[in-house]
Amino acid sequence: MGDSNLEQTYMFAVEALEKKKIGILHFMESATLPEGLKPLAPEARKRFSGLLVLNVGYDQKSAEQALQTGLADAITFGTLFISNPDLPQRFGLDAPLATSDTSTYYSGSEEGYIDYPPLA
Ligand SMILES: Cc1cc2nc3c(=O)[nH]c(=O)nc-3n(C[C@H](O)[C@H](O)[C@H](O)COP(=O)(O)O)c2cc1C
Repeated sequence: MGDSNLEQTYMFAVEALEKKKIGILHFMESATLPEGLKPLAPEARKRFSGLLVLNVGYDQKSAEQALQTGLADAITFGTLFISNPDLPQRFGLDAPLATSDTSTYYSGSEEGYIDYPPLA
């Protein structure tokens, strides 16, 4: 979403959802913002009393940190789950993660979606 005043626009939406008593807000913002860009997830956290789910670019370490600091109630994973069908087990075992092949994204076939092997 593009906007000349991102924070004002996003927080207006967050406050509107809060007023509607929405239970879960999935807020997409990169875990690694470029230097100088203000993260908006903490602002969303202050304004939203339901469950806050964050996503985009998280790994195990940054996800655990977001949970431990109370920034988020849950973190979701997209690309890591594509190439690691057993992602929770790998996190638990501190096992290596497979890298997903972006050339197979949105291909319309099963290739690159269901053919990554689980840990032996
Ligand atoms: C190949 C691919 C397909 C995706 N398909 C969907 C989808 O169908 N619905 C959806 O809400 N998000 C979809 N996403 C977005 C992910 O759910 C997630 O928001 C995004 O990948 C950012 O999280 P990540 O940094 O952990 O990958 C897709 C992402 C990728 C890479």
